[in-house]
Formats: sequence, structure tokens, C-alpha cells
Amino acid sequence: MQPTSLDTVLAAFNWRYATKKFDPSRKIPAANWSALEQAMTLAPSSFGLQPWRFVVVNDPQVRAKLREVSYGQPQITDASHMVVFARRTKLNADDIGRHIARIAEVQNIPLASLESTRTMMVGSMTSRADADLNAWAGRQLYIALGFFLSAAALAGIDACPMEGFESPKYDQILRLDREGYQATAVATAGYRAADDAFAGKAKVRFGQEDSIRHV
Ligand SMILES: Cc1cc2nc3c(=O)[nH]c(=O)nc-3n(C[C@H](O)[C@H](O)[C@H](O)COP(=O)(O)O)c2cc1C
Repeated sequence: MQPTSLDTVLAAFNWRYATKKFDPSRKIPAANWSALEQAMTLAPSSFGLQPWRFVVVNDPQVRAKLREVSYGQPQITDASHMVVFARRTKLNADDIGRHIARIAEVQNIPLASLESTRTMMVGSMTSRADADLNAWAGRQLYIALGFFLSAAALAGIDACPMEGFESPKYDQILRLDREGYQATAVATAGYRAADDAFAGKAKVRFGQEDSIRHV
């Protein structure tokens, strides 16, 4: 791994902003988009359980429908790419079994040697109330969203994180509910329009002395 300087990281984080107006004529090259997809899936999650599904919506007709249930926000149709971060609802013992089987496969270790890990995870997760479990899954998604936004910024790709949409309607349109998932957040990505007024605005953050406490 070739380290990236923190100056470069901070420059990217200062350069990025929640893009309000994308240039609809500019598309992210396929290889770059593929790398951003990988960046999401490389996000860490509690127990490594990855309680998510990332739905990349390319169909313009579906994007038009989603815009209608996203308060008309233009990013949904105008950005080069769009991904819906959906959480697993009611994670169950089968989901955990699938993860354990994947560990055995990828790390080439006997499934039986992971039995105590599986039992521990099942005990920890399935004892929770559905609301807790779903909130837990939602938290994991935001780590993936952060990975996506950071990777995009470092690659000079504009993005907008979005929660301004009607989640149950997304679930219906994308048939997520049938599959046991729930739309939680969206990221649109592409290239800023030359006249996006938000691009030139100063970044608003509390001072570090207000946000960070050293003990
Ligand atoms: C979880 C989340 C949801 C957001 N939802 C929307 C949204 O629906 N539409 C939008 O234009 N911006 C949305 N934003 C962008 C924020 O308003 C923006 O990130 C914040 O004001 C900080 O500005 P900056 O990202 O440009 O630095 C969202 C941001 C986050 C992190």
C-alpha cells in the first residue's frame, strides 16, 4: 500500500461538498464506478456481518420514479450514478450462518472450527428486539456511506449523501421490502454542474475546539 498524505486527504475533504446540481452530461467511467462499489463493500461492520444491500440504480425510468418520492431533488436523476444503502431488517440466524460460511471459504478454515463464533453471534444478535436490530443495521450502513463519500472525494468525484426521500416508497419501487431490506440512505455521484452555487460556499463546521475534547 502506498500511503496517501494526510494533506491530500484533507484537501479532498475540503474540496468535497454535498453536490446539489450535477452536470447530467458527465458520466463516471465504469472502472472508477466499480472501484467506488468496492469501497462500499470494504467498509467494516459489527462482527463483520455486513447487514446491507447496496442498490445501484441505473435505469432512468426508475430514477425518475425515485425522484418523485425524494421531494423532487434533482440529484436523483441528474447525477451520473446513484446508490441506495439498504439495511437488512430482522437479521436472523441464517444471515449469520451465511457470514460464517463465507469466513470458512475465504480464509480456508473448517466450518466446524467456527461453531462457537457462530453461536456467540447468534446469541448476541437474535436476542435483540427487532427495533434495536434494525437500528444497529442502520448504523453499519452509515460507515459504508462514509467510505463511499471519502473514496469519491479522494478520486475527485462529486457526491451527495441523501436522506431526503420516502423510505417506504423506495422499498416498494425497488422491491426491497420483499427481500427483507429497507432503504436507509442514498448517495448520488458524478460531477458538479459549473453553475452549482453550493460549490463555492465556505464549508460550515464548528471550530475544532468546540467539536474535539482532549483529555
Ligand atoms: C445522512 C445525510 C443526509 C443528507 N440528506 C441530504 C439530502 O437529502 N439532500 C441534500 O441536498 N443534502 C443532504 N445532505 C447533505 C448535508 O446537508 C451536508 O452534508 C451538510 O450540510 C454539510 O455540508 P457539506 O457536505 O457540503 O460539507 C445529507 C447529508 C447527510 C450526511
